[in-house]
Amino acid sequence: MRAKIIITDNYQLMSEAAARLVIEQIKKKPNAVLGLATGATPIGLYENLVKAAWLKTVSLSQTKAFLLDEYVGLNKADSRSFHYFIKNKLFDRVDIKKENTFIPDGQAQDLKKECASYESLIKRHGGIDLLILGIGLNGHLAFDEPGSEIDSKTRVVKLKEQTRRANAAYFKKPSQVPRQGITIGLGTIMKARKIILLAAGENKAGVIRRALKGKITKSVPASILQTHKNLTVVLDQAAAGELMAGGKRRK
Ligand code: PGA
Repeated sequence: MRAKIIITDNYQLMSEAAARLVIEQIKKKPNAVLGLATGATPIGLYENLVKAAWLKTVSLSQTKAFLLDEYVGLNKADSRSFHYFIKNKLFDRVDIKKENTFIPDGQAQDLKKECASYESLIKRHGGIDLLILGIGLNGHLAFDEPGSEIDSKTRVVKLKEQTRRANAAYFKKPSQVPRQGITIGLGTIMKARKIILLAAGENKAGVIRRALKGKITKSVPASILQTHKNLTVVLDQAAAGELMAGGKRRK
């Protein structure tokens, strides 16, 4: 595998290391097109970006950003929507222009049309220069759940129960977690010129091993990343715990 793997001592250092890579990209190409993940993992990275923008170490005034996924059916103003998340964590706190930010509309009348136009919007902007990914416990990337096709594009997907359970904490009742999402496809992901995969915590150690060292298979969507030409994986110690020779770390 050609991936560069950076193992840091803890979540904070993981977030700082990832932020440095993003800042480096924006400095090199101020009008870079970013692909942004939601979830708990990249929050520290976004905090570091906000800090850097505030300190004027970097400016996102020409940067473009595409969110990777969104729940189907949630209102944009709903605090559990990814729309709300990314505005709150990043877009409203840096100097990125609103017209340069893109989020799939999970409430579109015609979801199929929304997916097709999101895919072509990414293309029209020249494709994604730098894509930031988290990883689900089942190996999903964005909402590309196990079984997703390698060349899949932006589309509506049914969320796996494991994914709905993992996100249940954000909702009053687990049954309120939407059953569908809009997600960019694995094909869309693989076209990104550079990818940063982030993972933190012991509960991600198994899936990180399967994704990076296991067989490339549809049942672990993240395993496709092994074939990407420019992948950097940034982990904390705990998430890297099963990557070392000998497999599962024993206590
Ligand atoms: P997390 O989610 O960052 O909240 O762990 C990752 C994912 O499900 O892709």
